[in-house]
Amino acid sequence: MNNLKTVTVVGLGKIGLPLAAVFANNGFEVIGVDINEEVVRHVNQGKSHLLNEPGIDQLVKDAYKKNSLKATTNTAQAVRKSDVVVVIVPVLIDENDQVDYQYIDRAVLEIARGIQKGTLVIFETTVPTGDTRNRFGKKIEEISGLKMGVDFYLAYSPERVYSNRILQDLKNYPKIVGGINKESLELAATFYKKALNGSVINVKNLETAEFAKVAESVYRDVNIALANELAMFADQHNVNILDVIQAGNSQPFCHLHHPGVGVGGHCIPVYPYFFINRGLKEGLITKAREINDQMAKYAVDVIEEEVGSLENQNILILGLAFRENVKETTKSSTLLLIENFKQKKANVFVHDPLFTDKEIASFGVIPISVDHQIVKTIDVVVLQAYHDRYKHLTFDPFTNCKLVFDGRNVLPREQIESLGIRYKGVGL
Ligand SMILES: NC(=O)c1ccc[n+]([C@@H]2O[C@H](COP(=O)([O-])OP(=O)(O)OC[C@H]3O[C@@H](n4cnc5c(N)ncnc54)[C@H](O)[C@@H]3O)[C@@H](O)[C@H]2O)c1
Repeated sequence: MNNLKTVTVVGLGKIGLPLAAVFANNGFEVIGVDINEEVVRHVNQGKSHLLNEPGIDQLVKDAYKKNSLKATTNTAQAVRKSDVVVVIVPVLIDENDQVDYQYIDRAVLEIARGIQKGTLVIFETTVPTGDTRNRFGKKIEEISGLKMGVDFYLAYSPERVYSNRILQDLKNYPKIVGGINKESLELAATFYKKALNGSVINVKNLETAEFAKVAESVYRDVNIALANELAMFADQHNVNILDVIQAGNSQPFCHLHHPGVGVGGHCIPVYPYFFINRGLKEGLITKAREINDQMAKYAVDVIEEEVGSLENQNILILGLAFRENVKETTKSSTLLLIENFKQKKANVFVHDPLFTDKEIASFGVIPISVDHQIVKTIDVVVLQAYHDRYKHLTFDPFTNCKLVFDGRNVLPREQIESLGIRYKGVGL
């Protein structure tokens, strides 16, 4: 066990780079692999390519100084030199909500080409239950001729961190680990204790560890849907849902979530399909997806009710990103808002401080600066992603604005109303 010295991390993205940097600062020789040459170049210069990830710049710099973190595009070669391989490349869903394995399958193929006897392979990417054994493990066996659990060790350990506070979460959250057999589990658990310097929860097998991560995400989607349903009902009854949540959650069994204009990103709205596509078709999980995805339509209908026909009205959506302070548009509720506003023939403007005008325009909307006189022409403002930039946004220059729809229930209502602008939230 003490022979585990060299680790390959496959995928140096938002999660993979922090992992690689932490391992490299905790006594391991790390080879980071990515198909993106720009990412590899950055890392080999001791630089992080990530935005808004506190502590990562310093950690990558420290690893660079120690000469313990290098990067390459050659997966097989890196794997050949490694005792441990950690896989953290995306598994997504396509436009038909089917699982899209293209990135991970490519990585697995390369791992199989480089793997040596005695290597420990750990998958961290969120995957449908059973894939580590039945899809990835089998593929490695088929190509390498090595047997899982016998010639190489196989484990699964879900990544449960949150962008913008990854290093903190890596320290604080226990690492769930499952193995194909006792030896794989013990090896992986020992590796994480040293590499992350934190606690580990051993579970019975690979499938329990895979299932735990997806269950955790679906729990959030379903509970947000419940909050959204209650918020829409609260709207009809002139009750403020935030007061209800605060009061209700004073009972220790009650954990009401917060409602909003939709659930985006490549996790919470994606992982329910890892159940739905495997036979859990009808029931709460499917219903929750429907409720959360129709919140954008609900918002547009509420706005229309408040200000009348939206035809030719200038609508400004704040935040293209799916959530605050990340540059990521996967399943962003803004995309659903745009679709719904366009059906009403409104003119859609979008502002997001993390995206260039060209990137915003590629979504078929008009990019706009919130610091420019042009905001005078805006009729309705919708807050979708509460970036830090919006904490100091003042609505004084929006002299023609009739309504602010606060999709996250966070804006200063009194200040907005004092300007003669109507304010609506979700369930307020
Ligand atoms: N981002 C999050 O908030 C989050 C949270 C928890 C878990 N996760 C898990 O982490 C996974 C990765 O997420 P991320 O945010 O780091 O993604 P990301 O898109 O930021 O990074 C993925 C990286 O993998 C690289 N890549 C793709 N295919 C590759 C291959 N075949 N070989 C080598 N590199 C390859 C890409 O170039 C990219 O740099 C997710 O799919 C999810 O399972 C993410």
